[in-house]
Amino acid sequence: MGGNLAGRLLSRRFPKSERELVVGSLSTSMLAERFGTPCYVFDAAILRERIAAVRAALGERVGVLFALKANPNAAIAQLLHQGGAGAEVASGGEILIARRAGVPGDQMQFAGPGKDAEELAIALEHGVLLNVESLAELRAVNAAAVEGGTQARVALRVNPPASLTGSRMRMSGGSAKFGIDAEVLEEVARTAESMDSVRLEGLHTYAGTQTFDHEGWLANARFLIEQAEAVEASLGRPLTSLNFGGGFGVPVFDKDAEFDLEAAGRGLQELIAESERRHFVELGRYLVAEAGVYLTRVTYVKESHGKRFAILDGGMHQHAAAAGMGTVIRRPFPMVRASQLDAAPSESECVLGGPLCTPADVFPTAAGLGDVAAGELVAFLSSGAYGLTFSNVLFLGHPTPPELLVDGDDVHVIREGGRPEDALRGQRLPGE
Ligand SMILES: Cc1ncc(COP(=O)(O)O)c(C=O)c1O
Repeated sequence: MGGNLAGRLLSRRFPKSERELVVGSLSTSMLAERFGTPCYVFDAAILRERIAAVRAALGERVGVLFALKANPNAAIAQLLHQGGAGAEVASGGEILIARRAGVPGDQMQFAGPGKDAEELAIALEHGVLLNVESLAELRAVNAAAVEGGTQARVALRVNPPASLTGSRMRMSGGSAKFGIDAEVLEEVARTAESMDSVRLEGLHTYAGTQTFDHEGWLANARFLIEQAEAVEASLGRPLTSLNFGGGFGVPVFDKDAEFDLEAAGRGLQELIAESERRHFVELGRYLVAEAGVYLTRVTYVKESHGKRFAILDGGMHQHAAAAGMGTVIRRPFPMVRASQLDAAPSESECVLGGPLCTPADVFPTAAGLGDVAAGELVAFLSSGAYGLTFSNVLFLGHPTPPELLVDGDDVHVIREGGRPEDALRGQRLPGE
């Protein structure tokens, strides 16, 4: 077994696992046999538990939006919507996925610094709230609404002056491509107010992902409320909607802390106790990460200069984060020998590599993983967020893995796996 976090995840999230990893009530060896590897497997029960836990902690006055970017699969979004989540979308495509999942347009919010004309038209058609990130975008939104003969629902995304502490990837503070600088917020709000086809509903902020410090997160929320009060004073009317962002941290490395959801929930409820507005958070990773497993099989084992290499059938083109993309220090993701959890740990080093012809396609490997053998299954846990769609799936033309949703002892294919001929999809020779 690889690492303490992997052990914790097994007992907390996959308690039926004894000798092998069991998702819901289904063994991963059966899933691998039936659907092939590599594949992504998601557990419906964990998704239901996560959305219920978040809603309970934040209280009924806070709406929860699922940030589809973490896992843009309609079946996952549908399940979370059934659990009470709306959607935070980042493209026209994600609006369509969320609609497919049954989320009404008026329960969606759209953030992103470069929304184009086609995306604005789709958003306006569905009545999606646009979290506007610049004055230039505000003008484009107004123009699109005039052209569409409609009113745009708008909130202004605020770039706070000082960065939130505790976010591993900061996306705010100082000069940033995201949001409107707090210093000019009132002025932009007055401009929005003067536009005939824009209805300014409120403010939005998103400080960064992998936030483990709930105090830092709450400080950013407090800041947003102060900004709302200043804008209200300036406009002479109340705002109706505040979105505090997301980014609640999920441990992926052994030393990562747990995000204190209860404390964040209590703190947020205190902050909004006097407010009449509608309040939102938009969470990706926290809702879906621990529900997902990336399941691979060892194709070959070899020795090179005294080091053992196990080559998996999955790689960085399907799970870039587990190969270290986006991190400065490459540390092992929680991983287990899924078909023999009870295998003895080994002192000798075993390197897990993917099938791609690049040295980057190596998974930082947990110490003591053991002498992994050809044919056995290796599973990457905590892989339900920023997995397949965060990866360079077109690189080297491998078929994409299927995505499976396990619900107790049922399994659904929620994204079909690809075929080798997909590498040619959409390609044309000149003259064709
Ligand atoms: C605007 C916005 N909202 C929500 C999210 C989701 O963040 P997380 O998955 O960390 O909760 C992101 C992630 O980048 C984001 O940029």
